[in-house]
Amino acid sequence: MLRLIRKSIFVLKNYGPKVFILKSIKFPINRFINRFNLLKQNLVNKKAYKNKEKVIQLLKSFNSNNTEEIFNFAWNFYGGLIRPIQIKEEFVELLKIFQEQNPKYVMEIGTAGGDTLFCFCKLARNDATIISIDLPEGPFGGGYPEWKILIYQAFKKENQKLYLLREDSHKQETLEKVKQILGNNQLDFLFIDGDHSYEGVKKDFEMYSPLVKKRGIIAFHDIAKHPIDSECFVDVFWKEIKNNFKNREIIKNPKQNWAGIGVLFFK
Ligand SMILES: C[S@@+](CC[C@H](N)C(=O)[O-])C[C@H]1O[C@@H](n2cnc3c(N)ncnc32)[C@H](O)[C@@H]1O
Repeated sequence: MLRLIRKSIFVLKNYGPKVFILKSIKFPINRFINRFNLLKQNLVNKKAYKNKEKVIQLLKSFNSNNTEEIFNFAWNFYGGLIRPIQIKEEFVELLKIFQEQNPKYVMEIGTAGGDTLFCFCKLARNDATIISIDLPEGPFGGGYPEWKILIYQAFKKENQKLYLLREDSHKQETLEKVKQILGNNQLDFLFIDGDHSYEGVKKDFEMYSPLVKKRGIIAFHDIAKHPIDSECFVDVFWKEIKNNFKNREIIKNPKQNWAGIGVLFFK
């Protein structure tokens, strides 16, 4: 209850009373849609679990360096097993920036269904080191079960190294593990799509941005305004920091109520 009151005050302060009332009405409808989608996803997961070997073989045999082709593959693969939680036009635009950067050291916070990870693996250098962090069973999409590790490992190209850290990104031990993996190297690209609360996204930025190299890139997912029940306040943090850097906002429709990608280009 106290959490709800605190959140309501936060929303009223940052978004105003009109948004507060509108979003409160939408709350039960969104809950129903979320439950339905979860049920569908569970069925797809069960089928993939039974046919792991086949899934792995199919994933390994896909090769492309075309951003749209890669996104479409992820979208259609195995009934939505790694379907992106992204707006196509936005994410393809980010993938183009990613491809131009030709990154060797890549990290994402928020592995979830693995779709963004899949796209990053396909477009990173052949000898890239890729790190993806997620809670074993977390909020905002829910992490992933252990059996999916084999599936995600099938994303990488032959000479890439993929580290799947099933950890809380906010813990000091996790930061130490990332530093150990990187050694003397710095990140070319960091994608922040983990804890979407204001404090959470701020902490991810403060902890991991020092690991990004000069002229590196940090991208945030969900910078568009979200419904009140989504617990997503990335937009508030994004507004606070974006002007300290050269930046780009990729938002298909300002009224879309979710997604949106913010890109910071480090000086
Ligand atoms: C929106 S999902 C990520 C979506 C994914 N990048 C994609 O586009 O499919 C957010 C993920 O972040 C994870 N997460 C939330 N808080 C976290 C934390 N403190 N440390 C690591 N992962 C976290 C959640 O478990 C969830 O799987």
